[in-house]
Amino acid sequence: MNANHNNQVILADDFRGYLFKDQMAEAFHSYRSMENIYASAIREIATKLEILNDEFKYNMDRNPIHSIKTRVKSPQSIMDKLLKKECELSIKSARVNLTDIAGIRVICSYIDDIYTIADLLTAQDDIGLIRITDYIKNPKPNGYRSLHLIVTVPVFLSTHTEIVTTEIQIRTIAMDFWATLEHELAYKLTTEKSIYTRQELRDCADAINETDMRMQKLYNQTILLDKP
Ligand code: GTP
Ligand code: MG
Repeated sequence: MNANHNNQVILADDFRGYLFKDQMAEAFHSYRSMENIYASAIREIATKLEILNDEFKYNMDRNPIHSIKTRVKSPQSIMDKLLKKECELSIKSARVNLTDIAGIRVICSYIDDIYTIADLLTAQDDIGLIRITDYIKNPKPNGYRSLHLIVTVPVFLSTHTEIVTTEIQIRTIAMDFWATLEHELAYKLTTEKSIYTRQELRDCADAINETDMRMQKLYNQTILLDKP
């Protein structure tokens, strides 16, 4: 009787195990499929940026883009953000509610390059502009500066076309240097004592901006000197 009972328990556990495995496999497959679409959107946009950069090199003998970094948001970060926004935890919900699953960071040489690249990219027929946030003209209170674009790009699949939302952050090398270090430090800034650090970070951001503007001026003057 006992053994029989135990057997039934084992069978029931096995069944639950299979169900769980099925659900896991389905969730994994859905995430992989979504990840592939977002990674493809990133490739589309990165290629557009590289083409613009190469053309610039050809015409102006210099590259406005110093480097490009990309990432697809991890499943953990997607879940954390959905929970923070009090949204349903599903792939569909992620696609509707999150605009930064695909992220591209474009690091430019000069401030003017940021706007040139943003204008040239958003002027392309297949790029849809959803939102521009100019944290250069309006820096965040902590001193953060960058130009943020939320755009859509079509990804052509075998059976249909997906219109995929992507976040693009465009900044100078100097702005990137500050943002990278601030990002690391910000996690540690929790106590009252951090007021000093925050003020220092803000001052560094302003000093960096001052330098960026001086470098822009130097570049403009150099170009003028070069003209016949
Ligand atoms: P998130 O929930 O962080 O995505 O904010 P949001 O949806 O209001 O968008 P926002 O444009 O403010 O920020 C998007 C991204 O820009 C962040 O995920 C960071 O990568 C970057 N960012 C924004 N603010 C800061 C900042 O103060 N410091 C640093 N280092 N990065 C920032
Ligand atoms: Mg984000």
